[in-house]
Amino acid sequence: MDIEELQRRLDELAQQAVTTLREAGEREEAIQIKNRYLGRSGSVQELMVVLRELPNEAKPVAGKAINQAKSQIEEAFSARLDELAEEQLQRQMREEAVDVTLPGRRQEVSLGHPLRQVERELIAIFDELGFDVAEGPEIESDYYNFEALNFPPDHPARDMQDTFGLVDGRLLRTHTSPVQVRTMEAYDVPIRIISPGRVYRCDSDLTHSPVFHQVEGLLIDEGVTMAHLKGTLTAFAQRCFGEGTKIRFRPSYFPFTEPSAEVDVQCIFCEGEGCRVCSDTGWLEILGAGMVDPNVFEMSDIDPERYTGFAFGMGVERIAMLKQQINDIRRFYENDRRFLAQF
Ligand code: FA5
Repeated sequence: MDIEELQRRLDELAQQAVTTLREAGEREEAIQIKNRYLGRSGSVQELMVVLRELPNEAKPVAGKAINQAKSQIEEAFSARLDELAEEQLQRQMREEAVDVTLPGRRQEVSLGHPLRQVERELIAIFDELGFDVAEGPEIESDYYNFEALNFPPDHPARDMQDTFGLVDGRLLRTHTSPVQVRTMEAYDVPIRIISPGRVYRCDSDLTHSPVFHQVEGLLIDEGVTMAHLKGTLTAFAQRCFGEGTKIRFRPSYFPFTEPSAEVDVQCIFCEGEGCRVCSDTGWLEILGAGMVDPNVFEMSDIDPERYTGFAFGMGVERIAMLKQQINDIRRFYENDRRFLAQF
């Protein structure tokens, strides 16, 4: 092969390489094409053998021509790689495009479970009346749930039919009153606390749930009387159910208070006229209360000669049912979104 023939062959190869490179659909294909021409056994490399056979004076010209062909192919290769990268970028931008003018998806914002809402409201009312929040465990000992609250050993509430017992002898607290004892043990008088929390009883119907919530209240100081209890609960009822709401005390019995009372609010549906909700009585029961029994003070090392106090325990579900006009306690625990969405 002479120099002209070599030159022609090189032009042809370079032309071919540039054309096929332009059509390469992806990076790997472009690399393969480049190697086919410039690789160790590529077509351009093969022409190096011809170079060796040429007369000496023709070698520099031939060398230059080979290098030119190589750089032409290199340039076409890197130009194609740039184009492919740009195409890839454009494709990605198209695929990942976000239409910022589309209307947003509405997030549903919950104000919390209706029971939580009422619990928060009760805490806020008592906060305003000067009560701190105290807490106690849901798994309790017989001592805190019954014994220290003056329950006699044979009291029916201690029966396993009313109380969920655990195999280790402890139990699920049946009321929030054990927090009274724990607070008297942990703090000095004067004491003014409420204690919201979950309690458990073997009990289930339209107005009784096996798991429910109570808010306990305890106030101890010198000179506390039943009048303070009545004033506090009246102030509470008017904030909770509306100005002018009346309450009444009915004599009752709790082992840990003496005297004891059950407290009714005037029916908020009929304002005392009598209706189906209040069974025509004009009143609805919401809580138990009383003056702390001196025996309870003695067990917690508080001098009953010097201090007196009152306590109360209200059912959060019962109050929520009244405020939100719900007639079946189980609704709170069914997790029906149509029900929950109303609050
Ligand atoms: C008690 O639990 C006493 N510890 C309350 C108390 C505290 C009295 C401090 C004196 C001093 P009682 O068992 O009545 O009392 O329950 C209090 C309130 O809890 C009831 O008025 C009622 O509103 C609610 N309640 C009782 N059982 C259930 C139940 N199974 N489901 C829903 N609410 C209930």
